Amino acid sequence: MKRLSIRSPFDMHLHLRDEDMLKLVAPLSSKTFSAAIIMPNLVPPVDTKEAVISYKNRIKDAIKDDDFEPMMTLFFKPYSKEFLESVKDDIKAIKLYPAGITTNSEGGVSSIDVNELAPTLNAMADLGLPLCVHGETNGFVMDREKEFLSVYETLAKAFPKLKIIMEHITTKDATKLLDRYDNLYATITVQHLLITLDDVAGGMLKPHLFCKPIAKRYEDREALVTLATSAHPKVMFGSDSAPHPKDAKENCGCAAGVFTSPIAIQVLAELFEKHNKLENLEKFISINATNIYNLKRTNKTINLIKKDFVVPQDYRFENEIVVPMYSNETLSWSIDSIIQG
Ligand code: NCD
Ligand code: ZN
Repeated sequence: MKRLSIRSPFDMHLHLRDEDMLKLVAPLSSKTFSAAIIMPNLVPPVDTKEAVISYKNRIKDAIKDDDFEPMMTLFFKPYSKEFLESVKDDIKAIKLYPAGITTNSEGGVSSIDVNELAPTLNAMADLGLPLCVHGETNGFVMDREKEFLSVYETLAKAFPKLKIIMEHITTKDATKLLDRYDNLYATITVQHLLITLDDVAGGMLKPHLFCKPIAKRYEDREALVTLATSAHPKVMFGSDSAPHPKDAKENCGCAAGVFTSPIAIQVLAELFEKHNKLENLEKFISINATNIYNLKRTNKTINLIKKDFVVPQDYRFENEIVVPMYSNETLSWSIDSIIQG
């Protein structure tokens, strides 16, 4: 049977939530990843040194003995250089949300004004802290990312020493922007490599595939697949795994977010194999991130085997129930064993 090993997989965009949901989902990431960039959109957002440290401790408690590093982020606000100096060793990046654009982003930035942001962004550039951005306007849902690209260009030009990560890119236009500015990078999720808007809303509405940014057109998916499977050095895997309780998804006001932590590596193996690019999988899911974020790989190794994996219908802890992408479906790669680092 065909086998494959991936050393030190990184998830460069992950939502772990808090309390019982954290206890439910954190072990599903810490089992198979060696580290992850943890998003700060809790209620209230993670925007102080104390909040970063206590959230990190709650994550460590939830993952027990797993060999997994939660790489913390702050929720972007104007911060002083002194404050950033005091917190720089506790975080890996700062995440900017336009106000109200997605789950728990009400405290985000209401207009992206270079002069207003300059003190914080210059300090971040000096301290080597990357800026992660949820790049959407509040325009027509299919055009939100495209409309935001000019903001990325403005930021990239105004702050050439700042590393800017275009999070969860979903469009061909975003893939083209990447090479125009040295300081632009990107993450890509599992779902945007696999689905289009047709899968979400072309037939029966699929709430578990609804996320922000929404999945786009076939040509967009193709451009993302080409970028990921060629392991473009400025692109990293970031699942944007975003669990919501089952009843918040299966609801007439469906929350945005796709839960992919327990299936991500297996699905990526299937996709890269289909495109005859398995040799690039480790770059996409590990090596590229080490170069962009200056990370060290660990020896944690995920051994995969070409054997059916039936995705559980749901995952449960106490009163929490969360439904993964591809619930009850069969994937062609399974995790055979995991060697801790
Ligand atoms: C994320 C969440 O639920 O926190 N939702 C999503 O659809 N991706 C937030 C985000 O990354 O936009
Ligand atoms: Zn996210």
